[in-house]
Amino acid sequence: MTTDSRPGGLDDAAADEAARAAGVRVQPVAGHIGAEIGGVDLAAGLDDAQVDAIRRAVQRWKVVFFRGQRLDHAGHVAFARRFGEPVVLRSRGGASPPDFPEIETTADRLELGGKFGMEHEEWLRRRRHTLLRGWHCDHGARIDPPAATILRAETVPPYGGDTTWSNLAAAHAGLSAPVREFVSGLRAEHRLGVGYQPRPGDDAYVRHLLDRQVASVHPLVRVHPETGERLLYVNGYYVEQITDLSRAESRAILDMLLDEATRAEYTVRFRWEPGSVAFWDNRATIHLAPSDNAHLGFPRTMHRVMLAGEVPVGVDGRPSEALTGTEPGRW
Ligand SMILES: [Fe+2]
Repeated sequence: MTTDSRPGGLDDAAADEAARAAGVRVQPVAGHIGAEIGGVDLAAGLDDAQVDAIRRAVQRWKVVFFRGQRLDHAGHVAFARRFGEPVVLRSRGGASPPDFPEIETTADRLELGGKFGMEHEEWLRRRRHTLLRGWHCDHGARIDPPAATILRAETVPPYGGDTTWSNLAAAHAGLSAPVREFVSGLRAEHRLGVGYQPRPGDDAYVRHLLDRQVASVHPLVRVHPETGERLLYVNGYYVEQITDLSRAESRAILDMLLDEATRAEYTVRFRWEPGSVAFWDNRATIHLAPSDNAHLGFPRTMHRVMLAGEVPVGVDGRPSEALTGTEPGRW
């Protein structure tokens, strides 16, 4: 990407200067996405200059990584609050800390499959029965998906369990001009559960999904509210259908766009250690949770705080529309 193609909200020189002034080291780790941040102790609290430097690094690199941090739950929430309003979920995984409603804890082996009467392996298989289905942004079927996610590793497997992110601004910029033009006015239905393959007969998860449907129509090209960048707003987990296209047209075009959005050159993969923190822009990225660790049997305990987001807006200025089960600001 050349400097003159940068949208107005992104100023790389100013970001470099902010980091220098704050004593924050920003070390990019891949060509289009991801930077490790050093020189900050998140548990000690951040001054305004450090917050500004980190915010600019997230805008520019989409996901940033901190290693060797000593955050506890209170410190994690306090860190998140410097960047936005933490979301409080109505229901959380059973391993989540009762005293910190902003934190959701995932302990992979114990989680959702069991709740719906499945072994973990079957749960993963049914949720990801096509190759790219695992790619998602967090809560993408909502009318106002979270602006950012801050994920902290407590216990990680000795190998396996990496997370991968992809840069949706780079994916958009990489499309040919005619295809960018074609997709710029389109919209798509995003719905919870579209990638799920039901069990034969009674399926507790299908009943759960029907009980609590969540669906919205989002622009296929979203304008980033802070940077002004155009984002190829697709993912494999929630996107059901491009509005106004036939089923066959929609399927073929979505497959092509998802292939583009997850090209290896737009991605970064992170190897977690205890004390690692990843902070990503949940609007400008999609991520792939690991599926190579469940069979190993090692525990993996992660704590997540999400920051409240806004209703997406397309290139034409039209906002997303809620279809069912979702209202702005209501969790
Ligand atoms: Fe996620």
